[in-house]
Amino acid sequence: MLSQYLYISTAPTLPREEVDAILAASARNNPVRGITGLLLFNGRNFLQLLEGEENEVAALMETITADPRHAGVSVLDRRTIDQRACPDWAMNRVMIAESIESRREMLERDLPRGLDPEVRKMIVNFAVLN
Ligand SMILES: Cc1cc2nc3c(=O)[nH]c(=O)nc-3n(C[C@H](O)[C@H](O)[C@H](O)COP(=O)(O)O)c2cc1C
Repeated sequence: MLSQYLYISTAPTLPREEVDAILAASARNNPVRGITGLLLFNGRNFLQLLEGEENEVAALMETITADPRHAGVSVLDRRTIDQRACPDWAMNRVMIAESIESRREMLERDLPRGLDPEVRKMIVNFAVLN
């Protein structure tokens, strides 16, 4: 059974190199575990979409929740999916544009097509917050 989780968390003083280290760990581990997804960081909060076999995603969620580099992990959505929205992304960093005006446009371009409209809306709403 394939599951998809969407969560947000807080990391107000995280150095940029730590975000790179998280992406490096994801690139190393996720393909082995069949995990795909995307990660947004706005300098203060993370939003991550994780998808894969339920047992793998649940185990990774436990690891991530215990990671001291962030706090306040809050699951926004958790659902069973028939197909992955991000089949080609071991963990893709989606950049948030500097200017708020161009954010929606940029996300419409960069977010995967296969996302459920409701999930897409939650991601866009996160990204347009200051
Ligand atoms: C916001 C956030 C997202 C993360 N996403 C992943 C991920 O997708 N895959 C992963 O393996 N580790 C992820 N991590 C890191 C894990 O918490 C953990 O440090 C890592 O899996 C340990 O990998 P290692 O055993 O190879 O050192 C994330 C951490 C944070 C703070």
